[in-house]
Amino acid sequence: MDLFDKINKLKIEKNAIILAHYYQEPDIQDIADFVGDSLDLAKQAAKTPASLIVFAGVHFMAEGAKILNPSKKVVMPDLRAGCSLSDSCPPVAFAKYRQKYPDHFVVSYINCSAAIKALSDVICTSTNAIKIIGHVPENREIIFAPDRNLGAYLMKKTGRTMLLWQGACIVHETFSERKIAMLQIKNPETKLIAHPECEPTLLAKADFIGSTSQLLNYVIEDTGTSFIVATEEGILHQMQKKAPHKKLIAAPPTHSCACNECPFMKLNTLEKLYWCLRDETPEIMVPEELQAQALLPLQRMLEWS
Ligand code: 13P
Ligand code: SF4
Repeated sequence: MDLFDKINKLKIEKNAIILAHYYQEPDIQDIADFVGDSLDLAKQAAKTPASLIVFAGVHFMAEGAKILNPSKKVVMPDLRAGCSLSDSCPPVAFAKYRQKYPDHFVVSYINCSAAIKALSDVICTSTNAIKIIGHVPENREIIFAPDRNLGAYLMKKTGRTMLLWQGACIVHETFSERKIAMLQIKNPETKLIAHPECEPTLLAKADFIGSTSQLLNYVIEDTGTSFIVATEEGILHQMQKKAPHKKLIAAPPTHSCACNECPFMKLNTLEKLYWCLRDETPEIMVPEELQAQALLPLQRMLEWS
C-alpha cells in the first residue's frame, strides 16, 4: 500500500481528521480533509466531531486547535514546526510590556504562543483583523502584537493608532523588491499580490493585499491572468489547482536561497504525517489553566468574526 492508502485507511479506523495549512507540501494538502488559512483551520478544529485531529501546520495552530477543542487528541507531524513570528514575542518580555500599559486593549495576531494569547483581550488572523479591530471600543488604546508589518498595515486601513510589538516573520521579510520590479518590467500585465506580513514598502506596491485564503480567491476571481505572489510558496499549489490557466510567479527572495519557503511548515512531510497518525504522537498538551486563559480571547475572535 502506498502512503496515501495507508493514511486514508488509518483515518477511517481512528475517526481522525487531517487539517492542513496552505503552506504545507502539495502531498499533504492533497490528502487533507480540509486545507485552509489560520482562521478556517481554527473554526474546523473547534467544531470537528472527529476523535483525533492531525494538524499539518505549525505549533501555534495545533496548540490553538487543542485550546478550542480540549477533549480531542491533537497531534502534529513534527513538534519542532514552530514559527519565527511567534518566537519574536517571548511571554516574559511581553508581560512586562503589557504591564506598562494596563488600560490598553491587547489585540494579538494568532501567530503567537498560548502564553501570549492568555495575555491578550482578543485574537485576530489576517483574514478578520480589520473586522476585529472595528469591534474594539473607540475609547480604548490598542497594543497590537506580535507582527509589526501587519500592525502597520492595519493602522493604515482602520485609522486606529496602535502600539506595535516589533515582531516579524523571516519568510515575509525575505522578498526582493528589486527582483519583483524587474519581473514586472518584463511582464507589465503581471499583478503583485501580497500577504500583510510583508514589509510596508512592498505592500505599498501591491495590487492586492490579503490573507492566504483572500490571495487564493483573488487569483481565482480577478480578471488578470498573471500574478507575482508574495507569500510562502506553498499556496501556489491550490492557486494552480483552482485557476489552472493563470500564470503564477512566486515572489523571489533577496538571496538565491529557498527563503520563501517556511522552514517550519516544511518540517512536516507525508511520512511524518503517516507516523503521527499511526502512533498518535507527538501530541499537543496545554496545561489546564493556560488553556482556559487562552480560550477566552480566541472565543471572542470567533464571536467577532
Ligand atoms: P493566514 O492566516 O493568512 O493563512 O497566515 C498564516 C501565516 O502563518 C502567514 O505566514
Ligand atoms: Fe510563521 Fe512566517 Fe512560517 Fe507563517 S510563514 S508560519 S509567520 S514563520
